Amino acid sequence: MAEAMKGLKRTHRCAEVTKNDIGSEVTLMGWVQKSRNKGGIIFVDLRDRSGIMQIIFEESDVKAEGFAKAEKLRSEFVIAVVGKVEARSGAVNENLATGEIEIRATEVRILSESQTPPFPIEEDSKTKEDIRLKYRYLDLRRPDIQKNLILRSKVATTVRNFLAEEGFLEVETPILIKSTPEGARDYLVPSRVHHGKFYALPQSPQLFKQLLMCSGYDRYFQIAKCFRDEDLRADRQPEFTQIDMELSFVDIDDVIDINERLLAKIFKDAIGIDVQLPIQRMTWQEAMDRFGSDKPDTRFGMELKDISDLVASCGFGVFTGALENGGSVRGINANGQGSMPRKKIDALVNFAKDFGAKGLAYLAIGEDGSYKSSFAKFMTEEELAAIVERMEGKPGDLLFFAADKNKVVWDVLGNLRLEIARNLELLDKKKFNFLWVTEFPLLEWSEEQERYVAMHHPFTMPMEEDLVKLDSAPGEVRAKAYDIVLNGTEIGGGSVRIFQSDIQSKMFEILGFTPEEAEERFGFLLNAFKYGVPPHAGLAYGFDRMIMLMAGVDSIREVIAFPKVKDASCLMSNAPDVVEEKQLEELEISIVCKEETEE
Ligand code: AMO
Ligand code: AMP
Repeated sequence: MAEAMKGLKRTHRCAEVTKNDIGSEVTLMGWVQKSRNKGGIIFVDLRDRSGIMQIIFEESDVKAEGFAKAEKLRSEFVIAVVGKVEARSGAVNENLATGEIEIRATEVRILSESQTPPFPIEEDSKTKEDIRLKYRYLDLRRPDIQKNLILRSKVATTVRNFLAEEGFLEVETPILIKSTPEGARDYLVPSRVHHGKFYALPQSPQLFKQLLMCSGYDRYFQIAKCFRDEDLRADRQPEFTQIDMELSFVDIDDVIDINERLLAKIFKDAIGIDVQLPIQRMTWQEAMDRFGSDKPDTRFGMELKDISDLVASCGFGVFTGALENGGSVRGINANGQGSMPRKKIDALVNFAKDFGAKGLAYLAIGEDGSYKSSFAKFMTEEELAAIVERMEGKPGDLLFFAADKNKVVWDVLGNLRLEIARNLELLDKKKFNFLWVTEFPLLEWSEEQERYVAMHHPFTMPMEEDLVKLDSAPGEVRAKAYDIVLNGTEIGGGSVRIFQSDIQSKMFEILGFTPEEAEERFGFLLNAFKYGVPPHAGLAYGFDRMIMLMAGVDSIREVIAFPKVKDASCLMSNAPDVVEEKQLEELEISIVCKEETEE
């Protein structure tokens, strides 16, 4: 029996009523969290997005009809209550913002009833994620998810206000665009009008924001939806949101300055955290050498040390072999873990193998200074002593070493370092360590494509002092690119852009595009640059990742209203799904089953 709201007007959200309202009449509307009938008196916890308020129904206050309705209330019924604010008659509930007061109901209406929900609407849900996502509209009622989305909205407002004050204009860029791959796979949308042709969904507004600079908009920003058809992980979704910006007549320090002030404002206003400015900067080379990662988590040490020089002529073939192949031998020191059981060490060795390690050498230093090691027998006492000294090894420490090509060694030890930190619970969620990583390599050699690919994107400016190496040693050229890293997660990245057509042509040439191909793909940008282009630079944050870290949750799915799961489907709506034959006919698309073609 759904009643109308007619004649009632909500006066407060549940948790907006305070002690100061004692004695006044309020009208609240929301969902029944729970209802307890103590015979003659019924307690109802009423919930809305602000929180919970206790309502008391007594027959003498609500009349017989009202009491009969109160007796019917079940979890998730939507009701309106008129009543008087009172100090709590029973024990004060310290866990509730409204724990000192309650509402003595004089009128109640059942606005809608509810079936028993498939899982309880409560904080810290124990319900499996796939069930929660199937009923996302119920999951979104849970206070922790509501808190995350409220935080998200708050940050978006702060960003808009801050950037507006700094002279940025919010401009929307198109969603149906030409495919200009930026690294990930494009999502394609078939055109009905132009048979056989496709739009792509933007991986980012990159080209459009650069065009806006050409058009004189000076400073642009957008909270932009981006689409990338890549393998999903906890911090990756096929559609995600960027806080995207571009600025004219600036260099790296200008972009960094504005963004440091933006980050400080966001973290202070939204979660009360003081970001120490200036934020530490580290070159890519230093990040790799010290942390084995271009997005180092600097909340703990356990830094990598290079021992290549110490083992160059040792008797351990694994080490010398790696060096002969142009690689290196590096290690980390897990302080105080010298008595780690063999089983746990083996688990770490297997973990390392997931990152391409052929093996992992270790050396445990006993409390008495003795060694237990997988390779000590191949080494002299002096060699071992030198290694232990380089690793700052003390009795009770456990050292791990990887020998391989640099890339593998960094990846293995960088990830091992994180795994050990996770196991030892060294990662403090209350700590917010920001870091700029700068001077990235411009190019990366792709074994698969047997050519250089852009590490950031093809429009990133090489460092001026490295321009001379573009022809002779392209792999050594550093870029005017920067990432902002928070607690080991890349929350944003950007670069100074190429605005000189000769450098841009050179870049396309190195990337293996013929002039015709470059013209075909990026002609509109290259042409625009012929008509007066300002020097410009920009940056984009992964908005979801930023909120994930601010909220202290482990997945961006917890901060996205309607996220997708690992296989890129939506468990609630069942997207993607088959479409009607007629829709396909209009598009002149026919579905060919792989098995049929293979037969
Ligand atoms: P980039 O590709 O580094 O740069 O992306 C910017 C930031 O977006 C976030 N991000 C993602 N978040 C969730 N799911 C994903 N699949 C995903 N992919 C990326 C990351 C990343 O740091 N146009 C350039 C920016 C520029 O140069 O101005 C760009 O898109 O946090
Ligand atoms: P092996 O000679 O293959 O039995 O290896 C001896 C020790 O070296 C074992 O502990 C291996 O795990 C380790 N090891 C093998 N390959 C590597 C490598 N690439 N880097 C570091 N340690 C390795």
